[in-house]
Amino acid sequence: MTRVVDARLTVDGTARELPIERSTIGNDGMSVSTLLKDTGLVTVDPGFMNTASCESAITYIDGDAGILKYRGYPIEQLAENSTFLEVAYLLIHGELPTEDLLAAFNNRVSRHMHVHEGIKTFLGAFPRDAHPMAVLSGAISALSTFYPESVGNSEEELELATVLLLAKSATVISYLQRRASGGELIEPRRGGHYVDEFMRICFSGADGELDVDPVMRKALDLLLILHADHEQNCSTSTVRIVGSSQANIYASVAAGVGALSGPLHGGANEAALRMFDQIKESGDSVETFVAKVKDRVEGARLMGFGHRVYKSYDPRGAQVKKIANQILSDLGGNNETFEMAQRLEEIALSDEYFIERKLYPNVDFYTGLLYSAMGFDTPMFTPLFALGRMPGWIAHYREMLADPRTKIGRPRQIYTGETDRAYTPIAER
Ligand code: CMC
Repeated sequence: MTRVVDARLTVDGTARELPIERSTIGNDGMSVSTLLKDTGLVTVDPGFMNTASCESAITYIDGDAGILKYRGYPIEQLAENSTFLEVAYLLIHGELPTEDLLAAFNNRVSRHMHVHEGIKTFLGAFPRDAHPMAVLSGAISALSTFYPESVGNSEEELELATVLLLAKSATVISYLQRRASGGELIEPRRGGHYVDEFMRICFSGADGELDVDPVMRKALDLLLILHADHEQNCSTSTVRIVGSSQANIYASVAAGVGALSGPLHGGANEAALRMFDQIKESGDSVETFVAKVKDRVEGARLMGFGHRVYKSYDPRGAQVKKIANQILSDLGGNNETFEMAQRLEEIALSDEYFIERKLYPNVDFYTGLLYSAMGFDTPMFTPLFALGRMPGWIAHYREMLADPRTKIGRPRQIYTGETDRAYTPIAER
């Protein structure tokens, strides 16, 4: 990669040097923090297309080359060898844990999976057909009231909040899966493997027993790993910006859940599956649907395609497709839909519209098919993304707090409203 040596900006004939901040790999940054003071100008960058909001040592993405690394480890190696809780530890603490550290972390999370009676009452008060992302956001925010000993910014409190967020959100999500079909919360057991236990409390009968299918468990573990972090995406930036006001970790993560729920972000996994169903129901061929997308017919967007950063195949999407290929038939999945999705992908990838704009399948294109084959209801797909993203949100919140350069997030604007009006009394309007 070529390194820019210096940067200068000329405003009204006066040149100013802009300091360059160096990355270890990837884009360096041109610092504009003093520009307003020095020149009276702000920078304009809707959607933060070109703005680095912080330094971070957690996740690296090369969107052109399709590379994703957590703490320097390629996602493919972690997908092949690791487990979700090990990856969570890595993201949050910066190093892969030893066997003892991982066992202790697993035990601590497992010990905290039970939820307070008050939380059960609180969850039970939502309408049964409430979207689970709304309930999840409320439940995470409410955790701060049930566990006040974990709300502060000391190392111990943050470590406890980390464990509680990973543990309680799994149990809350399991209950939301069961509740939609009239089921009761299944009490978590201590000491089990995190993903095994999550599947048991999601899918066991009322007796609480379930032989977890190891193929399914491996697939879910992998999907959680693939979602665990993605640097400064919309929900993570939300967590950081809320946390920058020194709001507690629960309030910040709850806001992240809200951001994730949108169909342009995590909600795309649900939207993609609904799109496949709509294509089937409409009787349109996939070719016709792709033509509608290109013609920008209202409501026709290829969900699960495109990405702000990846201008090549999303490496997470590639892993998801590989698992879908390997296990969908074993799991009794919906192969007709999988075949249709593959055909959609094939057509889009050979179409000039998508080629020109460098639009490829992202992580959300095939995940819904796998979740559905595992037995999850469609509204549960985005909560599963949230469960996976939890370590990333926690790691970024903690990194943001520890960074002496953190300031409250507060962008500027270009004001385009009225400039000077005199108040008109109501009777005269
Ligand atoms: N279908 C059709 N056209 C698209 C799509 C798509 N999925 N994505 C982008 N485009 C077009 C877009 O219309 C624009 O065309 P033009 O320049 O002619 O106006 C061009 O490609 C650039 O798109 P953009 O919307 O300016 O790009 P962005 O970086 O602002 O948006 C995105 C990125 C992910 C929001 C967008 O690609 C999208 O809406 N995708 C569908 C939703 C989706 O799958 N989201 C999940 C993202 S990955 C999981 C996660 O991390 O959340």
